[in-house]
Amino acid sequence: MVNASPARILLASNRGPVSYTVEDDGTLTPRRGGGGLVSGLSAIGDEIESVWVCAALTEGDRAATRQGVTDPSVRMLDIDPGTFARAYNGVANSTLWFVHHLIYNTPTTPVFGASFRREWASYQAYNTAFAEALAEAAAPGATVLVQDYHLSLTPRLLRELRPDLRIGHFSHTPWAPPDYYRLLPDDVAAEVLTGILGADRAGFLTRRWADAFADCCEHVLGAEVDRSGDAPVVTHQGRTTHLGVHPLGADGDFLRERAHRPDVDARLAALREAVGDRRTVVRVDRTELSKNIVRGLHAYRHLLRTRPEWLDRVVHIAFAYPSRHDLPEYREYTASVLRTAQEINDELGTPTWQPVMLHVDDDFPRSLAAYRLADVALVNPIRDGMNLVAKEIPVVSDDGCALVLSREAGAFAELGEDAVTVNPYDVIETAEALHTALTMDRDERAARCKRLAEAATAVPPSTWFLDQYRALSS
Ligand code: G6P
Repeated sequence: MVNASPARILLASNRGPVSYTVEDDGTLTPRRGGGGLVSGLSAIGDEIESVWVCAALTEGDRAATRQGVTDPSVRMLDIDPGTFARAYNGVANSTLWFVHHLIYNTPTTPVFGASFRREWASYQAYNTAFAEALAEAAAPGATVLVQDYHLSLTPRLLRELRPDLRIGHFSHTPWAPPDYYRLLPDDVAAEVLTGILGADRAGFLTRRWADAFADCCEHVLGAEVDRSGDAPVVTHQGRTTHLGVHPLGADGDFLRERAHRPDVDARLAALREAVGDRRTVVRVDRTELSKNIVRGLHAYRHLLRTRPEWLDRVVHIAFAYPSRHDLPEYREYTASVLRTAQEINDELGTPTWQPVMLHVDDDFPRSLAAYRLADVALVNPIRDGMNLVAKEIPVVSDDGCALVLSREAGAFAELGEDAVTVNPYDVIETAEALHTALTMDRDERAARCKRLAEAATAVPPSTWFLDQYRALSS
């Protein structure tokens, strides 16, 4: 359904703000999602006509789209399921995600053969569908904010259709350094870059990712990069794109309120009961290859093996929620997380103490309860655009937690000083960091946690969103 009046601000992302489920009786139930974009867009207010263009992801979404029951401010694209799967699983999640997070096992992958070319054609078609929908819904001179690696071609395609628009693109992932980025076939590598350069502004979560993007533009395209200002400016084929650094922060007001509702209190009581008077190391992640959950467990095992004073004195609460289970690598990774946790419990547990408490079923109130209980938060990704969990736990923890943080997380740029930082590949160093964090003096821990929470909430989602909107519309 197209919004009756053309929109002055448009968002485009693969996953939209709402998803529909088909109930047993055939009715459709909408479920609103959370996240920075949703709260960011609400900061714009109702007076500006807005439209969110996203993909129909579930059977319910497709049915809602066909029946025309979706909210007029949300436009779901009913993309052919095969095309969608090749674009989303094949290119976005198995290729661009792997490149930007440096997680290929290069002796055997990637292999860019005929099946990749089919996936790439689908990715082009999927990006074109977004560009056409945006072109149709946008008022003259409207502002369009395109999100993430799923939609890297859309800015240029949209500009060709509607040169009057102000177009922004934002990458929520890291960006690969040129040597790694060049694993991509040359034409694909260039098309992704020129796709994003179709935007007037290209946003990143940290300076490091913006610099990597600029370096790729220089090395792959031969673009001109001006590094004299706050952030690089890229000029290619007569067009100039300003890069922007916008580190998304945690929504402190929402989190603090949400974390003290009765459903969280009930889960906190249950966790406390299970933990007893032991210390806690908490991690909460989607089970993604880049989150490094298995090495985190190895580090915890190393801590217990080498510092027996922690036996029966600590519990590792690890929530690893399902993610992208259409991809075999993700299913195998989830299995290895489960296996490793089980091995630790078998090797070191006792009838009255389970060293690792692992849950793989998604439960947001239970995550918040774990945040409140955390003595130590473990955030050790191989590479991460930002990592909001690193920002959320210090905001919510009841007694002030110590943060063990990978230097490869985007959040490191803002939180590094008050965290105990680690090289995510070094499990011995990570084990030592856990020990340092667990033994940190109570006052120091509280003082650091306060500073972490302040830094974490410095750019709440509404500010993050408005800054980008203003920079683009001015
Ligand atoms: C993570 C990344 C985002 C990405 C999202 C997609 O949260 O940080 O960059 O957009 O995953 O997740 P999905 O479940 O839609 O594949």
